[in-house]
Amino acid sequence: MSQPVLDVRDLIVEYKTPKGPARAVNEVSFSLRAGERFGLVGESGSGKSTTVLALMRMLRGGRIAAGEIRLNGVDLAQISEPAMRRVRFAEMSLVPQGAMSSLNPVLRIGDQMADIFEDHGVRRSAVEREGRIERLLEQVGLPGTVRWRFPHELSGGMKQRVCIAMSIALRPSLILADEPTSALDVVVQKQVLGTLSRVQRELGAAIILIGHDMALMAHFVSRIGVMYAGRLVETGPVRKVFAAPRHPYTKMLIEALPSFEKTAAFKGIPGVGPSLLDPLPGCPFHNRCPMAIERCRTDPPAFRTGSEDHHAACHRTEELADA
Ligand SMILES: Nc1ncnc2c1ncn2[C@@H]1O[C@H](COP(=O)(O)OP(=O)(O)OP(=O)(O)O)[C@@H](O)[C@H]1O
Ligand SMILES: [Mg+2]
Repeated sequence: MSQPVLDVRDLIVEYKTPKGPARAVNEVSFSLRAGERFGLVGESGSGKSTTVLALMRMLRGGRIAAGEIRLNGVDLAQISEPAMRRVRFAEMSLVPQGAMSSLNPVLRIGDQMADIFEDHGVRRSAVEREGRIERLLEQVGLPGTVRWRFPHELSGGMKQRVCIAMSIALRPSLILADEPTSALDVVVQKQVLGTLSRVQRELGAAIILIGHDMALMAHFVSRIGVMYAGRLVETGPVRKVFAAPRHPYTKMLIEALPSFEKTAAFKGIPGVGPSLLDPLPGCPFHNRCPMAIERCRTDPPAFRTGSEDHHAACHRTEELADA
């Protein structure tokens, strides 16, 4: 098999806090093949954004404490900051959470896009550059004239599309999209995801899509990873994970999804996640898990292989499959 585009091994990220280091990402490992679509889900605070910010080395107040981040074979955790600057946008780009508010309010869209080429030493004539910006905007379904506008003159969906256009400007082999549609209404969400999906395919780039809406995600990605309290607790092909989850947390996330058949009250997951400063011994989910046994309170579960490519970190995964 060809070398993966991205191979993350035992990544640990810690934030500095007044009470000591908080481990927001804990021994996370996964890899992506060229062109693959991987979805990352999990409740608020589970470490999804921290994971992709660490990949980009854009952590604020945090540091990569351990682990490898191999992008096309190069360990990004080890390279210099100038080398990392060349990687951003060109090899791997991020559509950050709340991307539309990351646009500079006092710069026209075209000028912000031109900065990406400038920063990466892509020397072009003004005419060529204008043409390229126009094509990028059209690629994400916006009229080329948007380049003359300021961010406040655009709708939320248009701004998200601008951010997507910026993320593909230098044709990276990996796009990280952190809840690219969460601030939009359902119809526009689908349109923007559709656009992202099309340009990703045109580029042949791999993508990590972070989202809350597992159902929406299921349409878009082929493989999914579920995070809980900084750990990746389950990964697998999206169909397999939905049909037969191997971690009780994933099962509860799926059961919490609203559906037409189930008009009953929304079923949340009771309890709160553990503190990052004072992690639980054993399995991080044991205090909320309906299947927890004594062993779960003391013995941290390792990632175990279920069927091919479908793994979970749970002592009771067999019982769950039988249930
Ligand atoms: N700069 C920071 N300093 C200290 N702690 C932080 C910082 N940023 C995030 N955290 C903590 O790290 C944990 C993971 O945060 P993160 O933003 O990665 O979660 P998330 O899964 O992206 O959540 P959401 O779905 O709400 O976006 C949280 O407990 C959060 O409080
Ligand atoms: Mg986040």
